[in-house]
Parts: sequence; C-alpha cells; structure tokens
Amino acid sequence: MKVTSLPFADRFTDLHLHLDGAVTPAIAKQLADMQDIPLPPDDELEKLLTVSPDCRDLNEFLSCFSLPQKLLQNYAALTECTCLVTSGLASQQVVYAELRFAPQLHCIDGMSQEDAVRAVLEGLEKSPVRGNIILCFMRGGSIEDNTETLRLAKKYLTADGGVTALDLAGAEALFPTADYRGLFEEARRLGIPFTIHAGEADGAHSVREAIEMGACRIGHGVRTFEDDALVSLAAERGIPFEMCPTSNRITRAVADMENYPFNDYIARGIPVTINTDDPAIERTTIAVEYRYMEEVFGLTAQQERVLLANSIEAAFTTDRGRADIKRSLGLDSEVL
Ligand code: ADE
Ligand code: ZN
Repeated sequence: MKVTSLPFADRFTDLHLHLDGAVTPAIAKQLADMQDIPLPPDDELEKLLTVSPDCRDLNEFLSCFSLPQKLLQNYAALTECTCLVTSGLASQQVVYAELRFAPQLHCIDGMSQEDAVRAVLEGLEKSPVRGNIILCFMRGGSIEDNTETLRLAKKYLTADGGVTALDLAGAEALFPTADYRGLFEEARRLGIPFTIHAGEADGAHSVREAIEMGACRIGHGVRTFEDDALVSLAAERGIPFEMCPTSNRITRAVADMENYPFNDYIARGIPVTINTDDPAIERTTIAVEYRYMEEVFGLTAQQERVLLANSIEAAFTTDRGRADIKRSLGLDSEVL
C-alpha cells in the first residue's frame, strides 16, 4: 500500500500580532511618505525597526516600537497601516488574523482613542484577510487611559468582524498583572472576552493571576512551566496559549530555547497555538515560525493540524467564523 505523508501547513492563522510590531521598512516608508515625515537611509531604517540580535529582555525589545508609533499618530496612517499589514498577511497565506493594538499609544498628537479604534476598523473593512481586533490595555498606562480603552471595547464589541476582545500588553516585569485586576473584573462584568500577556517577562504567578481573573487565553504563557500544578490547571481548563517562538527567543522568555516548553505543553494537553507577535521587529513571518518549530522542535504535519484546530477553537469569533476559517485552511474534512 502506498503511504502518503501529510503535507506541512501552507495556510495559517495568527492570533497574536501587534499592528505596530508589523510595520516593515516598506510599510514605514509608505506611512512616512503620506505624512511628509523624513526617514533615515535604508540601513539605518532597518536597524530602527528591527530588534538587535543581542537584545537582553522584553524591556529592550519594546524600545523598537518608537518609530512605528511615531508614524501611527493620525487616522489616515492607522487605516493605511491596517490595509498594508493585512495585504502582507494575505500574501503570506494567512487566512485569519487577530490584530491587536493599544489605542492609547496613538494619541500623542491629539487623536482620541476612539478615532484610533475607528481608523483601524476602517482598515479592517478593506482587509483581504478575515480578521478581528483586540484592544490592548497598557501596563504602566494611566487608569484613565485604560478605562477609556475598556469603554471603547464595550462600545465597539461585536461577535465577529471588528473588536472582539481585550488584552494587556507592555512591560510585564515592571507592572504586575495583579495591578490590572479591577479592569478585568469590569471587562468580565461587561461580557468582554480577554487574553492577557502573561508568563513572558514575569513568572508563573502572573499566568495564575491572569487565569484567576478570567482570561480566555494566555499571551505567551512561557513561564507557566515553573509551576507544575498551574500547567495541569491550564490543561484541565483548556486555556489556549498564544506562543510566539521567535519573540520568546529574542526577549529571553526562557534562558535557553532548549528549555522552551512547547512540546511539554502539547504533551500535557494545553491547547497551544503558534503566532508571530511582532513580525517586522523580529524579521519573521508565520510560515517561518512553523518551519522553525519543525526544524528545531520536531513539529510534525499532524501536530500542525492540531495547532491550527486549537487556534480555530481559540479565536475570538463566532461558530460561523470558525467554520469559514476551517474551510479556508482546508481542514473542513478533518476529524482532529
Ligand atoms: N507589545 C508588543 N509586543 C509585546 C510583547 N511581546 N509583550 C508585551 N507587550 C508587547
Ligand atoms: Zn504580544
């Protein structure tokens, strides 16, 4: 009998992708052009927009966002950026993306958070890729700014095709997850689903906190392994982890990638997903992330199907959305 081996994934989802972390040099030039903002020569631009190989931690990584944020301070630029990023995703065979951004980071020149949200929604309407928007609270942001983000999440919340969830981004080691309990309690009361960046630059207790607060998913979750009972809890509750291998390597979420707990989490039953985080800053794409996990962690084609099924299940969308994504991935006839 002829044995046909399963093909590796060639169509993808990305559930964890920051809009301002997806500004490539080419996108930066277009955004600068439309606003008459001068940019440095190409080699310098490339350096400003990508993280250096000797990056020490998440705090240093986050400093790479200053140029993208400078270019994203008005309505037209945010809309255009959303269009350009989603066009790029379409050409990289992404069939479903959840773009996240913190509206409060786009108000330096006077734009309101609400206009920032509307601008990105306008871009999403023109997106060639099916997608949704996650609004981020900021660690270290003022209570007023984060409360405004919460108000907007409630106002624009929809089941699919717009704002479908909240998140907490920023410097986890400097601003503990526990400090944001009040905001997430309110989000829960308002029926807004959320994910939380946790266990990336802080330990397992940050993930426990996020789960106790009611997070439907965990952004990264890398350091959960420090607390074995917590790994079991995440598995029992079926809490999806949005893992971002290149980002986790660069920010040194684990001291050594040999100890990256990806295969352990799969073996323990956590619904793991693969995502990019900040593809431009890390010079990666979702396909590169899958190929890296195949080569370095022995990820098989069958496991890839399970990971994609995990991400369909975890997506902040409707059952109808899930069925469409499944079809677009060519997984509609699969029993996984
Ligand atoms: N914002 C952009 N990328 C991030 C990350 N990896 N962690 C926290 N906040 C972020
Ligand atoms: Zn992130």
